[in-house]
Amino acid sequence: METPFVFGKLAVERNFTNREKERQRLTGNFSGLVNTVLISPRRWGKSSLVQKSAIEAMSVDENLHFCFLDAFNIRTEEQFYLALASEVLKISASKMEVLTENAKRFMGAFLPKLSFNPENQDELSLSLDWKEVKKHPDAILDMAEKIAAEKGWKLVICIDEFQNIATFENQLAFQKKLRSHWQKHQHVAYCLYGSKRHMLMDVFTSPSMPFYKFGDILFLEKIAMDSWVPFLCSRFDDTQKYLSESDAALIATLAECHPYYVQQLAQQSWFRTATACSEEIIREAHEGVVSQLSLLFQSKTEELSTPQVNFLKALLDGIEKFSSKNIIDDYRLGSSANVARIKKALENKEIIDILAGNILVLDPMYKNWLATRYFIKK
Ligand SMILES: Nc1ncnc2c1ncn2[C@@H]1O[C@H](COP(=O)(O)OP(=O)(O)O)[C@@H](O)[C@H]1O
Ligand SMILES: [Mg+2]
Repeated sequence: METPFVFGKLAVERNFTNREKERQRLTGNFSGLVNTVLISPRRWGKSSLVQKSAIEAMSVDENLHFCFLDAFNIRTEEQFYLALASEVLKISASKMEVLTENAKRFMGAFLPKLSFNPENQDELSLSLDWKEVKKHPDAILDMAEKIAAEKGWKLVICIDEFQNIATFENQLAFQKKLRSHWQKHQHVAYCLYGSKRHMLMDVFTSPSMPFYKFGDILFLEKIAMDSWVPFLCSRFDDTQKYLSESDAALIATLAECHPYYVQQLAQQSWFRTATACSEEIIREAHEGVVSQLSLLFQSKTEELSTPQVNFLKALLDGIEKFSSKNIIDDYRLGSSANVARIKKALENKEIIDILAGNILVLDPMYKNWLATRYFIKK
């Protein structure tokens, strides 16, 4: 029987729960061509939400089209232009000849070299003369607008893992370039999303930055317990297995309502369940998940400096005030200036998040592993 849970893939259809308000806001923005910025830690459900909202928005507005770009592997400005041009070209036509024709028409000056995988038309590879593109990136940055205008489309370009642009050389100049073109577009809106809240906040909310006031900013939260409980129970029920509400709540609690881990833990519990799930099964599944991740957590921890590890230890011990001299000495954190550096580094590594002064460890399984397996040995 197929498992009723997914993780590591986009949650769609029956695997997707809730997010009513966020979906409404996104579909409204898409249809009204309002730029949107969506921010949350990794694996909280941004990509799933954008995908789901895009499908919903297209189903009520047939003039609406989407182009998806993932900046996950993009490290340079050149790669960004290539990816953007390829994705926009791909949605511009379904026939290869038309697409080639579009490439010549819209990017003539650069004479892009196009090649396709004959088995899979989706695999378009494009090469451009970088020296030319660098001189005038306009043609590429405006191509979506031209195509959308010509076709009378409303087009939304969704760029995932947008925080990666911060690693480009001359990122500020690059951002200026993007913003100055994109803000003139009448037929295209942008939905930019990613993790690294601080970096993205800086890009989108600092008055001195080019993307200041670019669009509607949405902070995605985890999915609440009262959505998880009925979701988990009904997914078990759909597959003729039983999960009580209190056990569903236990799954969500152990995974701290973290969408990816709730699904993973639910799946592992489901696998172990013949007919009725139980607390014992769930605890066993939880141990299993943490064990599976052990090696990964081990190497993640080895990459940290000793004061960073000490800081995590203090955090798990429930320490809140890191400014006190006693705490700094007890946990060997160096100095209060060093504490600030540790926080920044752990935030950059997406290990902790600091919200309104509250510091949280983002990965509930890592937190559990540190507390029950790593620090215990020390
Ligand atoms: N609305 C949702 N309902 C149920 N599970 C979800 C939902 N959104 C995300 N998930 C779970 O979280 C995982 C990560 O979601 P994803 O959209 O890839 O997050 P992100 O893009 O923020 O990293 C998914 O594979 C799925 O298991
Ligand atoms: Mg994602």
